[in-house]
Amino acid sequence: MPRIADRVVPFGTTIFTEINQLAQQHHALNLGQGKPDFDGPSSVIEAAIDALRSGTSNQYAPGPGIPELRQGIANHAARSYGLAVDPVSGVIVTPGATEAIFASIMGLVDAGDEVVVIEPFFDSYVPGIVMAGAAPVFVPMHAPEWTFDPAELRAAFSPKTRAVLINTPHNPTGRVYTHSELTLIADLAKEFDATVISDEVYEHLVFDDARHIAIATLPGMFERTVTIGSAGKTFGMTGWKVGWAYGPPDLIKGVGQAHQFITFATNHPAQRAVAFAFTLDSTYYEEYRELYTRKRDLMLQGLDAAGLSYVTPQGTYFVMADFSGVFDGDDIAFSRRLIEQVGVATIPPTSFYSAAHRHHGSKHVRFAFCKNDATLEQAAERLARLKRG
Ligand SMILES: Cc1ncc(COP(=O)(O)O)c(C=O)c1O
Repeated sequence: MPRIADRVVPFGTTIFTEINQLAQQHHALNLGQGKPDFDGPSSVIEAAIDALRSGTSNQYAPGPGIPELRQGIANHAARSYGLAVDPVSGVIVTPGATEAIFASIMGLVDAGDEVVVIEPFFDSYVPGIVMAGAAPVFVPMHAPEWTFDPAELRAAFSPKTRAVLINTPHNPTGRVYTHSELTLIADLAKEFDATVISDEVYEHLVFDDARHIAIATLPGMFERTVTIGSAGKTFGMTGWKVGWAYGPPDLIKGVGQAHQFITFATNHPAQRAVAFAFTLDSTYYEEYRELYTRKRDLMLQGLDAAGLSYVTPQGTYFVMADFSGVFDGDDIAFSRRLIEQVGVATIPPTSFYSAAHRHHGSKHVRFAFCKNDATLEQAAERLARLKRG
């Protein structure tokens, strides 16, 4: 009998699909998936409409991305981090950061290699590593501060380590790695001659005094780092699925070799619009941060009303809430209870851990606050029912 491949059998259905279905069934407010319920800038939407109507963008784009977007990405890296990225041989545009991550793993890691992954992780990392025939080696971040133990990080590296996959600002914990945390990772990458795949899709979503540091800016790191970004996150258009990877040309060559046979090219009109978005001035990024600082504060008021504890997120549009003060079961049972009885959907984070480390996330749920203020206010009212029992 024809049957599906063994390699995909363990992947199951993503937790997002499961939660979305349950949320719909119970008409719950969906604070699960990191999907804004409002649009990005209207000028960027107009640029997409212009691109569609121009008669020049409805056929395949060049495989590595249109030149003006690659230039925009290189300019942004120069402006934001002082990095000298070659727009021709140092940037690949992909259908979302998800493909950039997958193409980076496929293009930079061989079967039998090990890839160090910090937990909780974005859910596409491990399937990507497994599909490349490599093995993930896990390092948990510890609650309540969500820091990793330097000794555990060191123990994960070995002569088999080919790459380390990091994410800062970090989904789902909201942590922004400090200079000293990044230096630890960088020193180990250098010592074990590993590539760093740095998922920085929330680079512009940092709050208060937190500052995002691109690991590629640390001494000796540009040459061994592939940095990943997403227009879905930076410009609030997750449905467009435009992402990118940039780095030194000899590594980006590997990413491009994989990308050409995964999707070949990325949505052409959306690339034109994102190229326009990269011409927006710094006010855009300031307003974006202000908008999300307000949403974060609304979310935290809701968690306070519910009697849930948390560490204030320094970045991203997620917060991990500890429910052990109001519920005795695990994260999956609590998520179900929230959907069915309170009418708010969240993501149980144990699916972002290896089996051995799931207990690290079993007393938390992840809330996404990339939602209209009215939705967040309504969620806060519903969550207050939790405290009232
Ligand atoms: C940490 C992280 N990396 C990558 C992605 C995927 O981004 P994209 O939608 O551009 O594929 C997400 C989306 O939620 C994310 O949170």
